Amino acid sequence: MTDQAPAPESEIPGETAGDIPGKPTCASRTTLSHIMTHNDTNLLGTVHGGVIMKLVDDAAGAVAGRHSGGPAVTASMDEMVFLEPVRVGDLVHVKAQVNWTGRTSMEVGVRVLAERWNESTPPSQVGSAYLVFAAVDADGKPRPVPPVVPETDRDRRRYQEAQIRRTHRLARRRAIRELREKRAAQGYED
Ligand SMILES: CC(C)(COP(=O)(O)OP(=O)(O)OC[C@H]1O[C@@H](n2cnc3c(N)ncnc32)[C@H](O)[C@@H]1OP(=O)(O)O)[C@@H](O)C(=O)NCCC(=O)NCCS
Repeated sequence: MTDQAPAPESEIPGETAGDIPGKPTCASRTTLSHIMTHNDTNLLGTVHGGVIMKLVDDAAGAVAGRHSGGPAVTASMDEMVFLEPVRVGDLVHVKAQVNWTGRTSMEVGVRVLAERWNESTPPSQVGSAYLVFAAVDADGKPRPVPPVVPETDRDRRRYQEAQIRRTHRLARRRAIRELREKRAAQGYED
C-alpha cells in the first residue's frame, strides 16, 4: 500500500483533473436489489451478515469496474455497519457509488436499504460500508483510474469524508508497522 499523503480537503477534482479525463459520480452509481429467502438466514432466522456483505462487495465491485473501465479488486472493506436485522421476505437494495479516487484506488460508499417485498412502505436503511478497490491490469498490478468528479453537494461531502478515512487508514497502518519494527529491533519475535 502506498503511504502517500492525501490530497488536501479543498482539492476536489474538476473535469480536467489528472492525466486521465475525470468521470462524474453518476457514470458508475449502481443499485443491486435482491429478495431474501430462507437460504440466506443465520441460526437466529434473520439474514446472515455475510450474505449482506457479499451483496455489498458485488455492488461496490460493479461500481469500481465501471468507474475504472476494467477489472478492480477489493483491497479493503471497513466500517461495515448493520443498523437493523434483515428478514426473510425483505427486498434489499444495495446502493453504491465512488466517493473518492486516488491514483490507482477508489473508495466506494455503500448504503443498504430494505423494504418488505410485497408492501409499498418506503425502504429503511439497514446498513452501510466503505470499500477500497484497486484497479488492476492483466497482470494484477495496480493501474491508474480516472478522477471521480463529484457533482452534488452530497457527493462533495462524501469526497471530503472519504479523504478523512483515507488519512486515518494510512496513519493506522503506518503506526502499526512502526510498532512492529520497534518490537523486532528490541528482539521480540512476535
Ligand atoms: C490490492 C492490491 C492490488 C494492492 O497491490 P499493492 O502491490 O499493495 O499496490 P499499492 O501499494 O500500489 O496499492 C495500490 C492502491 O491500493 C491502495 N491500497 C492497497 N492496499 C490497501 C488497503 N489495505 N486499504 C486501502 N487502500 C489500499 C493503495 O493506497 C494504492 O492506492 P493509490 O494508488 O490510489 O494511492 C493487492 O494487494 C491485491 O491484489 N490484493 C488482493 C485483492 C483481492 O484479491 N481481492 C479480493 C479478495 S478475495
